[in-house]
Amino acid sequence: MSKSFAVIGDPIDHSLSPNIHSAAFREMDLDSSYIAYRIPKGELEEGIEGLKKINIHGFNITIPHKIAMMKFLDKMDESCSLIGAVNTVTNKDGILKGYNTDMDGFLEPFKKRKLNIAKCKVLLIGAGGAARAIVAGFAKEKASSITIANRTPEKADSLSEFAKTIGLNSNSIEIKEVRETAKNYDIIVNATSVGLKNEPSVISLQGINEKTIVYDIVYMPMNTDFIKKAKERNAVIVYGYEMLLGQAVRAFEIWHDMEAPYNAMKKALLGGF
Ligand code: ATR
Repeated sequence: MSKSFAVIGDPIDHSLSPNIHSAAFREMDLDSSYIAYRIPKGELEEGIEGLKKINIHGFNITIPHKIAMMKFLDKMDESCSLIGAVNTVTNKDGILKGYNTDMDGFLEPFKKRKLNIAKCKVLLIGAGGAARAIVAGFAKEKASSITIANRTPEKADSLSEFAKTIGLNSNSIEIKEVRETAKNYDIIVNATSVGLKNEPSVISLQGINEKTIVYDIVYMPMNTDFIKKAKERNAVIVYGYEMLLGQAVRAFEIWHDMEAPYNAMKKALLGGF
């Protein structure tokens, strides 16, 4: 029987997820389809009812529903309950189970490059849903500490408290302090949406060197201002599309219970740029 999948969010028309998953279906000869479905903020409940009616097999969730979706789940796996946000759902006879593949997706590029996170000092900019999954990832990999800066400082404080409760040393700083502190860290991550519209990065990369790992989760454009600055400093660069690919690969494996065709998915993703 043919299976259908979707990604829900708003805006959704530029999502690359349909390309990535459709390429995987072709590669593995699966009789499945994957669509982008716009559900505006406030219309999530009706949207999910609609998906159940068409017997959706699984779906991804993106901005702005990753946290709001939690209350519509019947079950959740550990990643989802720990992080408090959901990006992947399975539907078995109307029973919705939530997963969060952002954490594994975020960690995937470190594994691919054999970069060790243990004992690293991390600077994280941003304190939204994605940042929460990233904090959980650094806790899992036993980073030495994480410093969090955010435009709204209260959210940085609360994410820092969350980090401590899961065993990761943490503090928060003002976003204006970030400009001068880059040199104190081994890994710097941008988990804000700054860069999507080609805005200049809030981070000055002075003091960073070829050992510093610079990771921007913004994937469109691929070369954000942050990434360009990091290139000038010869830093180790991790692109946002790598996290997108990592979370998609993990979601594929949850839905289809087989190894994902990584290269076909990567090719489809890069073709979307
Ligand atoms: P996501 O699920 O992608 O994490 P989110 O939860 O809406 O999305 O979080 C967006 C992040 O980008 C937040 O850290 C937000 O800062 P605030 O908490 O102050 O809102 C950050 N952000 C968005 N636009 C920004 C801007 N123009 N300057 C600085 N930070 C910004």
